[in-house]
Amino acid sequence: MKRFEGKTVVVTGGGGGIGGAACRRFAAEGARVAVLDLSLDAAQQVTAQIVAQGGTALALHGDITVRADVNDAIAQIEAKLGPVDVLVNNAGWDVFKPFTKTTPVEWERLIAINLVGALHRHHAVLPGMVERKRGSIVNIASDAARVGSSGEAVYAACKGGLVAFSKTIAREHARHGITVNVVCPGPTDTALFADYKEGAGNPEKLLEAFQRAIPLGRIGQPDDLPGAIAFFASDDARYITGQVLSVSGGLTMAG
Ligand SMILES: NC(=O)c1ccc[n+]([C@@H]2O[C@H](COP(=O)([O-])OP(=O)(O)OC[C@H]3O[C@@H](n4cnc5c(N)ncnc54)[C@H](O)[C@@H]3O)[C@@H](O)[C@H]2O)c1
Repeated sequence: MKRFEGKTVVVTGGGGGIGGAACRRFAAEGARVAVLDLSLDAAQQVTAQIVAQGGTALALHGDITVRADVNDAIAQIEAKLGPVDVLVNNAGWDVFKPFTKTTPVEWERLIAINLVGALHRHHAVLPGMVERKRGSIVNIASDAARVGSSGEAVYAACKGGLVAFSKTIAREHARHGITVNVVCPGPTDTALFADYKEGAGNPEKLLEAFQRAIPLGRIGQPDDLPGAIAFFASDDARYITGQVLSVSGGLTMAG
């Protein structure tokens, strides 16, 4: 029996690097997967890969900062794939520069995507999970939330907020059979990380510095993340809630 057979899983930012890898893993483990992304094209590419492997997936366009988009997407998913059993809040975005060089317009966009977007999604799925007395939520934060990261001050603030929010929602909804946990990727080779390297000015030097600093000797690949994400979403983690796990090759060893 596959771990997610008969379950509906929603992954936001499912067209991206880590989100795409998570979608493929959930589908391989039997889930019906809703791939929600700002880029419908990227979401469709991931669903095509899943369908080609014999899985079930639905691509949806939606901006997680727009409440109506989130509500519409959840309604469509529930009509086509069934009630949401697992929500993975993965969509994210960053601007890489020192805080004093950032603008309030950038702060607003960062907060809208990385923090408020997650609030919309929890608000949309939690009432149904409470009614059914089951559900798992996995929030993708960042090691920037745990140990800070130069050039990512507002992003780090949002991800830190997401960690605190996750713990509180975990407490509020434990009695409803809902678990909420957080995965914090370290530097991982995706489009977002490519922007980070460019922002640093000397991408090759930065990469070398990371490789030296990471105990396991390399930056992460998107496929390094789904194991932890799927674990928290699965029944194997049914007695685990409000926890934060770094997947960063040992770069951070937060207690
Ligand atoms: N790559 C890293 O080094 C790294 C490190 C720490 C944390 N993270 C986190 O991992 C998550 C996934 O990032 P990734 O590295 O795979 O990046 P990515 O850029 O490959 O994927 C992000 C996806 O989110 C989507 N997205 C962005 N804004 C959206 C919006 N408003 N509505 C809907 N979709 C939206 C994008 O279209 C994209 O497909 C993010 O939350 C990111 O903050 C990544």
